[in-house]
Amino acid sequence: MDSAKTYSTWVEIDLSAIENNVRYVSRHTGVQVMAIVKANAYGHGAVAVAKAALRAGASWCGVARVEEGVELRQNGVACPILLLGYAPPESYALALKNDLSLSVWSAEQISPLAHAASSVGAPARLHLKVDTGMSRNGAQPEDALQLAQILAGAPGVVFEGVFTHFALADEPERHVTQEQEARFIQVCQAIEESGLRPQVIHAANSAAALTRPSAAFDLVRLGIAMYGLHPSRQAPCPAEFRPALAWKTVLSQVKRLPPGRGVSYGHEYVTQTEELIGTMPVGYADGFHRLKGNQALVSGVKVPVVGRVCMDYAMLSLQATPAAQPGDEVVLIGRQGEAHISAEDIAARWGTINYEVACAVGARVPRVYL
Ligand SMILES: Cc1ncc(COP(=O)(O)O)c(C=O)c1O
Repeated sequence: MDSAKTYSTWVEIDLSAIENNVRYVSRHTGVQVMAIVKANAYGHGAVAVAKAALRAGASWCGVARVEEGVELRQNGVACPILLLGYAPPESYALALKNDLSLSVWSAEQISPLAHAASSVGAPARLHLKVDTGMSRNGAQPEDALQLAQILAGAPGVVFEGVFTHFALADEPERHVTQEQEARFIQVCQAIEESGLRPQVIHAANSAAALTRPSAAFDLVRLGIAMYGLHPSRQAPCPAEFRPALAWKTVLSQVKRLPPGRGVSYGHEYVTQTEELIGTMPVGYADGFHRLKGNQALVSGVKVPVVGRVCMDYAMLSLQATPAAQPGDEVVLIGRQGEAHISAEDIAARWGTINYEVACAVGARVPRVYL
């Protein structure tokens, strides 16, 4: 990538992988796909990912914040966009002006929304969020029908959807999702029987979209698997999925140090023998966490980070790659020759999940689209 050569560190996003993964889920579930592009598309870049997902047949986008929805609109994304969670009442007018659908779970939200709809002259398209067991946002199932009735009768309001969110879909061997789904079906049936069926009923995240056909309803909300990242060990992506993100940098310096030389702040690492050490211009300010055990690929070989990760740099032991030169490509996530480091490998080292690894890639790291 020529443009990437001007960067110290960058991520490459393979949009054909996003398209491939969306097409698979669309075929596999047979229902509409909402591309979940919150948090800058899990670090991948919201606008480019949204457009790739729509090209591949997704028909909705999902975001977490009003600003995220506005960014999509300002960049020409015209599909329905659902804000999945909380929007401050002060942001309702902005959200409605930008034709964002909003989530609601309490009667108190409805009259300010109806008021905002009348003041901006645009409908408030609302999705009733039912808390069937995640205990985050949502109406309790026993209150849902009454809320649906209030929604359907409010002026300027379109009762567009009803949805829930699973807490353990990535652990398909446990029964919780079954129980949540049963509660949700009861709520939806009561709403339908009272003649209020909204346009879309939805529940599934990636793990449920891949493992629970019964949870597909009208639409699946596809996040982590769209990026080719596994929802969990127990709910992996099928083999046809491809990860979209690779994180790269270069060797900015290579030096041979004598034994006994301390490396980086605190000298936690000290060379035992004469040792080839490489410096790479990536650090914790880029999202490369300041934790022990980091690795990178150089010359197709996995090599250890040594010493503390700095804000903008980290050092590598290059004993296994004696021919390494300044300017050589270094891969933090992705493939180099036969060697590979996945977001899941890093998550295991950092004691977290692949979601957090992708979201951690810093705002200053340019995204280069392939
Ligand atoms: C309400 C809601 N739906 C769907 C998703 C997508 O989940 P996943 O990335 O596991 O597919 C999320 C992500 O956290 C979410 O909060």
